[in-house]
Amino acid sequence: MKALVTGSSGLIGSRICSLLLKNGWEVNGMDIRLIPQEGVEPFQCSITDTGSVRRAMKDCDFVFHEAAASSSPMFYPDPREGVSVNVNGSMTIFQLAHEMGVQKVVAASTSSIYGNTAVPSKEDQLLVPPNMYAASKLAMEATGLTHSEITGLPIVFLRYFSVYGLGERRKGNIANMLSQFIWDVLELDGKGRQPVIFGDGKQTRDLIYADDIAEANFLATKKNVGTGIYNVGTGRETNLNELLDIINEAAGRKVSAKYVKNPIKNYIYRTLADTSKTKRVLGFSAKTGVKTGVRAIIDELTAA
Ligand SMILES: NC(=O)c1ccc[n+]([C@@H]2O[C@H](COP(=O)([O-])OP(=O)(O)OC[C@H]3O[C@@H](n4cnc5c(N)ncnc54)[C@H](O)[C@@H]3O)[C@@H](O)[C@H]2O)c1
Repeated sequence: MKALVTGSSGLIGSRICSLLLKNGWEVNGMDIRLIPQEGVEPFQCSITDTGSVRRAMKDCDFVFHEAAASSSPMFYPDPREGVSVNVNGSMTIFQLAHEMGVQKVVAASTSSIYGNTAVPSKEDQLLVPPNMYAASKLAMEATGLTHSEITGLPIVFLRYFSVYGLGERRKGNIANMLSQFIWDVLELDGKGRQPVIFGDGKQTRDLIYADDIAEANFLATKKNVGTGIYNVGTGRETNLNELLDIINEAAGRKVSAKYVKNPIKNYIYRTLADTSKTKRVLGFSAKTGVKTGVRAIIDELTAA
C-alpha cells in the first residue's frame, strides 16, 4: 500500500507516518514546514498548491489529511489564511484524490465543533463551533461530505478530542496543555513556572495520545468503513487539577497551579467523546491512559 500523509511533520502526521511504515506501507509526507523522517518520501509544499499535491499523490491508495491551521490562535486577528488552508486546501486534497483514483481519504476534524454543548458529544448532535478554527473544520466536513456524495470518493472524518504526544516541544504555546504543564513542572525553560489554569481547574478534557489517534486513522482504511464522521477520544475526562496531580506525581514534584480569570471568549468547559459509533464501526478503543502518556512524555524529555 502507498499513502500520502499531509501535515506529515506535525504531532499527529508524524505518528501516522511511523505506524504506516511499521506496517510496510510506502509513505509520501507533505508539509509546508517539512522535517525529514526516515523512510518517508519528502514533499515540502502547501496543500493549496495543486501541482505539488498532484505529484505527491501519484499512485497513492490512501490519503491521510492532517495539514491545517491547527489551533484557534492562528485565526486571529485575520482568519482568512487559516480558512483558506482548512477549507480550500482540504478541497484541493479531496478533488485531486478523486481525480487520481485514491481509494479513500481519512481527514482530521475536531471535537471543538461541539462547542459548549452537553457531553458526552455524539456525532449526530447539534454543532456550535465556538471559534474560527472550529468553524473552518466544520466547513471542511460540509464541503467534503458533499464532494463525496457527488463523486463517490469515500472520505472518513475523524473528530479528534484533545491530542497530546511525544515531540510537542516545537509547537510551543499551541501544544496540548498537558505537555505545557509538564514543561512547567519540569522547569524546562530554566525558570520555575507555575502552570496557568483558567478558572477553578474543574474544566475537563478528553485527553487522547497521538499514537492512539494514528491507530484510529489506520483502522479507518478498512474496507467496510465508508464516508462518515467518527469521534476519536477515550470516553474519559480528566479535570485540570487532576491532570496537574498526575504530572506532579510522575515527576516527583509538588508544583501548584496559578489560577487566573479565564480570558477566552466561548472557552470550552468540558470535552468528552461518545465513543460508541467509533468502537462499533472502526473497532477502535484508545489504549493509552493519561498516566501512561504523561510518563512517556516525561521520559522523552528527561532523556533528551
Ligand atoms: N492536536 C490536537 O489536539 C487536535 C485536535 C483535533 C483536531 N486536530 C487536527 O489534527 C490535525 C493534525 O494536528 P496536529 O496536532 O498534528 O497539528 P500540528 O500543527 O502539529 O501539525 C499540522 C502540520 O500541518 C502543516 N501545515 C500547515 N499548513 C499547511 C499547508 N498549507 N500545507 C502543508 N502543510 C501544512 C504544519 O506545518 C504542521 O506540521 C490538524 O488538522 C488539526 O486541526 C488536532
